[in-house]
Amino acid sequence: MLNLEDSYVHLTRLALEGRKQDILTLIKRNIKQFDDIHPGLSLKLKEEILSYQDKLTVIRKKVQPPLPIDLDSKLELVKSDSITFESDPTWPEEVGNELNKVIQERKLEDQLISSGLFPTRSTLFVGEPGVGKTLAARWISAKLERPLLTLDLAAVMSSYLGKTGNNIRAVLDYAKKSHCILLLDEFDAIAKKRGDDSEVGELKRLVTVLLQEIDEWPATGLLIAATNHEELLDPAVWRRFERVIKFPKPSLQNISYTVNELLKNDSFEGKTSIIDILSLLLVGKSFSDVTKEINNSRKESIIQGKHLSIILEELIERLCKNVNKAEKIKIALMFLEKGYSQRKTAEILGLSRDTIRKYANNG
Ligand SMILES: Nc1ncnc2c1ncn2[C@@H]1O[C@H](COP(=O)(O)OP(=O)(O)OP(=O)(O)O)[C@@H](O)[C@H]1O
Ligand SMILES: [Mg+2]
Repeated sequence: MLNLEDSYVHLTRLALEGRKQDILTLIKRNIKQFDDIHPGLSLKLKEEILSYQDKLTVIRKKVQPPLPIDLDSKLELVKSDSITFESDPTWPEEVGNELNKVIQERKLEDQLISSGLFPTRSTLFVGEPGVGKTLAARWISAKLERPLLTLDLAAVMSSYLGKTGNNIRAVLDYAKKSHCILLLDEFDAIAKKRGDDSEVGELKRLVTVLLQEIDEWPATGLLIAATNHEELLDPAVWRRFERVIKFPKPSLQNISYTVNELLKNDSFEGKTSIIDILSLLLVGKSFSDVTKEINNSRKESIIQGKHLSIILEELIERLCKNVNKAEKIKIALMFLEKGYSQRKTAEILGLSRDTIRKYANNG
């Protein structure tokens, strides 16, 4: 039979000695006996313990173990970011569909698992520089509200291989245990590395370890590898990934959306027309080049103290230099349609006014 007096004294002693875990055990043991004799007290104690344990798990989740470091330099081997986006980026249609599938699968993880299926654990992003591979990994991380751990393989591969292997293993071990998304950026760096003869064995071992890790990546995690040299990757490597997403150059629609976003806080006359024409002239460039062109113009406008619309017209003029005459005429007609004068159109496009007049009259 439980003696309240003894229990109280016992508890006080434990509290004074700071033995939190023992106090919890004692109370949990007593609760069972209180159930019959003091049901109200028993209930209150249960509530207290439950809310305390909830708090504990929240605290535990927040405290991530320290990031793995390089033993020589003591520098962290990976970057960990918690990312949020002000507005969603635009994606080429196929890319958007694939990224959304990865995200949806995670959101419906429980349903998938109860049907014996798992969400995508590993995915490979392939595409030229500046098409949004790294940004897509950041976007997934933001959408899933999980931190993004980035391991830049090009940077890690520069040191000698024995050490590289240890460093990569340390990062993979860390990532598997934490609730994160791991991005292996510049994945082709591994394929590019040509060590001397003594290192060939070590390099092979490293590749084998990596491939095995991809195969066995836990379903709770998500591993993303990004490369812009698809030709350097062995078909055996491709096969390892559950999903391969190819990133094309942005479409006219993607470009126009991006330019609009970049200029959303600037207002000037003829903005819509300028954006339409600019977008057309930027087709074929990567997202990163489009962003650079527009942001450089915004900077120029501030530095030179000129109106942004003038700087953007100068940009149009420059981009037109790479366009053949037939294209120029098509663009000229667009200018006229948007209300530009024949004189201004001729000036910007570097065409004669006669030519413009001729096509304008025919059109
Ligand atoms: N979908 C997008 N919408 C808007 N801007 C984008 C988009 N994708 C990329 N960008 C812009 O281009 C920049 C470069 O993109 P990102 O770093 O993702 O390219 P990447 O494919 O990883 O290139 P690399 O192969 O050189 O690493 C971004 O910082 C961003 O400004
Ligand atoms: Mg990148």
